[in-house]
Amino acid sequence: MAFFEWSDQLSVKVGKMDEQHKVLVSLINELHEAMKAGMGKEASGKTLKRLIDYTKTHFTTEETLLRQHSYPGLDVQKTEHAKLTQQVLDFDRDYNAGKITLTMEVMAFLKQWLNDHIGNTDKKYGPYLNSKGIS
Ligand SMILES: [Fe+2]
Ligand SMILES: [Fe+2]
Repeated sequence: MAFFEWSDQLSVKVGKMDEQHKVLVSLINELHEAMKAGMGKEASGKTLKRLIDYTKTHFTTEETLLRQHSYPGLDVQKTEHAKLTQQVLDFDRDYNAGKITLTMEVMAFLKQWLNDHIGNTDKKYGPYLNSKGIS
């Protein structure tokens, strides 16, 4: 069983966003595998970088879509996205500097954050976008 299992509970009922969320889930699983396998800092660092890059891509795509449709909860989205981005960038900086390592605690934080954000904040835009003909 994967570290982070996708479930329909996480579907926001917007195809493109579900697809991107699934990629994020699989990148978290990859990072977990790298951590578990004790892969060196370099290999894990590369996976971490892919996760960070894709997270940025996703946040930008999502915010653009929500802006295009004048979603009223855009500011909440932007605030939560910016906070996580900063936390992850801080982690990446300290990780590359050798100050901290990739632990199960970090993995649990990432999983929890994504699960909560998709399941609570993202899920709210589903019905709104669906009502605008986006699915
Ligand atoms: Fe979001
Ligand atoms: Fe999202």
